[in-house]
Amino acid sequence: MIKMNLPKLPSDTILAPMAGVTDVAFRLLCKKYGAGLTVTEMISANALARENQATIKMIDVVEAEKPRVIQLFGQNTDSLVQSAKYCEDKCEILDFNLGCPAAKIIKQGAGSALLERPNKIKEIVQALSQAVRIPVTVKIRLGIRTGSINVIKIAQICEEAGAKMIAVHARTQKQGYTGKADWNWIKKVKENVSVPVAGNGDVKSVEDYVRMKTETGCDYVMIGRGSLGNPYLFKQIADYNKTGKYTERSKVQQVKDFFAYLELAQKYNIHFNNVKFHAQAFTKGIPKSTQLRDSLSQIKNIPSLKKEMLTFLSQVKELEK
Ligand SMILES: Cc1cc2nc3c(=O)[nH]c(=O)nc-3n(C[C@H](O)[C@H](O)[C@H](O)COP(=O)(O)O)c2cc1C
Repeated sequence: MIKMNLPKLPSDTILAPMAGVTDVAFRLLCKKYGAGLTVTEMISANALARENQATIKMIDVVEAEKPRVIQLFGQNTDSLVQSAKYCEDKCEILDFNLGCPAAKIIKQGAGSALLERPNKIKEIVQALSQAVRIPVTVKIRLGIRTGSINVIKIAQICEEAGAKMIAVHARTQKQGYTGKADWNWIKKVKENVSVPVAGNGDVKSVEDYVRMKTETGCDYVMIGRGSLGNPYLFKQIADYNKTGKYTERSKVQQVKDFFAYLELAQKYNIHFNNVKFHAQAFTKGIPKSTQLRDSLSQIKNIPSLKKEMLTFLSQVKELEK
């Protein structure tokens, strides 16, 4: 079997996978603004292997997104291999989740629970890498808890087993999404593997991006929550890399970006709950957005939401005059 290499990415920023958030409309908008890579939310390999229709629908990748990344989670090597083969023709990269801290995932022995089982990780990553032509990448955390950080060992095992890129979310499983990400570990991983490393955790601005790159030497910067309601951040980073400067986003631009998302969401038939979530995210921090949030919570369909958001946009335009 001829193995494919990691495709060359148009930029060094990556949109982090976020379940219930990074639908194809949001991913395409981030890509338009300069994200070099976008990833589906995590997909259950067990469910996919059973050909669960709802899970199949979650694989919402489209040609325009290329290079496409599908992220799988699971703990059963056979199901993972079967799912990887199913995904092989639908994406250019297959990512394996070794970081999810959610109780229902850990209970299955998947996500970050696997960080305690280096041999199992080796078995799975090796099996995945051998099963498909496309490159396999992994997304890991520092370890289970502060006292048992094993991220360097896990990264080395993944590399040896065939992983072509390692994304490091610099928190432990126990930290969940709280506390500060410890970027020192990203630097240490970078120094101890030869495949590209993506640093992840707490990047919310151009300055954070620059600091993560210089402090850790990582090849890519993966951005999660910092992009919520703010895919424009990818443009600011791209502008900064090109010209050394970037412009602040206006409030009007912030709301207009929601309409760009909405257009894509309608095109790709995105679930209304996602659209509502993004409407709130794209208006956060703008005067009167709390009232807007109250009215959005009552809204049940796209036309009413659009009307509400257009009224809000006119108010924001008035404010910025
Ligand atoms: C709502 C939400 C959903 C997430 N879903 C996933 C997921 O499906 N797969 C994954 O690997 N990480 C997931 N993550 C973790 C993010 O990819 C990222 O590692 C984490 O948010 C830290 O990066 P940040 O500080 O830039 O947000 C999720 C995070 C959030 C907030």
